[in-house]
Amino acid sequence: MNTQPIGIFDSGVGGTSVFKEVEALLPHENTIYLADSANAPYGNKTPGDILNLSIKNTEWLLQQHCKLIIVACNTATTNAISYLRQHYSVPFIGIEPAIKPASLNSKTKAVGILATKGTLSSQLFYNTANIYGSDVKIIEQIGEGIVPLIESGQTLSEEMKTLLKAYLKPMLQANIDYLVLGCTHYPYLLPLLLELLPPQVKIIDSGEAVARQTKTVLEQQNLLNTSLKQGKHQFYTNASVTVMADLLGADYKVDFLRF
Ligand code: DGL
Repeated sequence: MNTQPIGIFDSGVGGTSVFKEVEALLPHENTIYLADSANAPYGNKTPGDILNLSIKNTEWLLQQHCKLIIVACNTATTNAISYLRQHYSVPFIGIEPAIKPASLNSKTKAVGILATKGTLSSQLFYNTANIYGSDVKIIEQIGEGIVPLIESGQTLSEEMKTLLKAYLKPMLQANIDYLVLGCTHYPYLLPLLLELLPPQVKIIDSGEAVARQTKTVLEQQNLLNTSLKQGKHQFYTNASVTVMADLLGADYKVDFLRF
């Protein structure tokens, strides 16, 4: 049981930012990553469509005998994880925007959040923002167009820079001191964000917290891979192998899968 892989899925290549945190913390675990890039972005789809795609991804990963599934997509987590937890017996780890640490640590009492429409309009996000947003101003921004640019290999393009400048402007006007990255694709924008944001603005995402939570749940449920061998990692995409391989780097092999 313990050598069975951890399954990871996202609407596309973004969840590889979460995979990297998981590999760093749990180097002996085997993983299978599924990128549903042919259906990306999920962010503009209806909650029903997001749920159906999340079910499809989950069932494929379960066919590969995954012992735990990481929903490495804020949009899928906020719209589908409670259903998945109710209907499948493996543990699920989700990812949500890090509104809590940003709000608790903000000195300027203004926090920016960049996420998809699907995440920002979800009930789960609404509940979190209500709890932590009572004495902090939360400036929400839909990252329209960002995911398609990353999925087409234009992560650090001029077009992306123009989009980001426009999205950050109202946040900077509101004097934010934290920017929350509420989509797993966005950590790949870090070089541009560092260029566009003043140094006092801290950028946070939830990738590392997801890796820590994964470790805790594996320990609690006696599912840790106790082998001392380096874990094996498989990556599958139903769109561009090149885009995903470029983000992952030369150490990993990506395969095309029609699903
Ligand atoms: N990586 C997904 C997320 O974290 C992107 C969603 C999308 O495909 O729009 O929300």
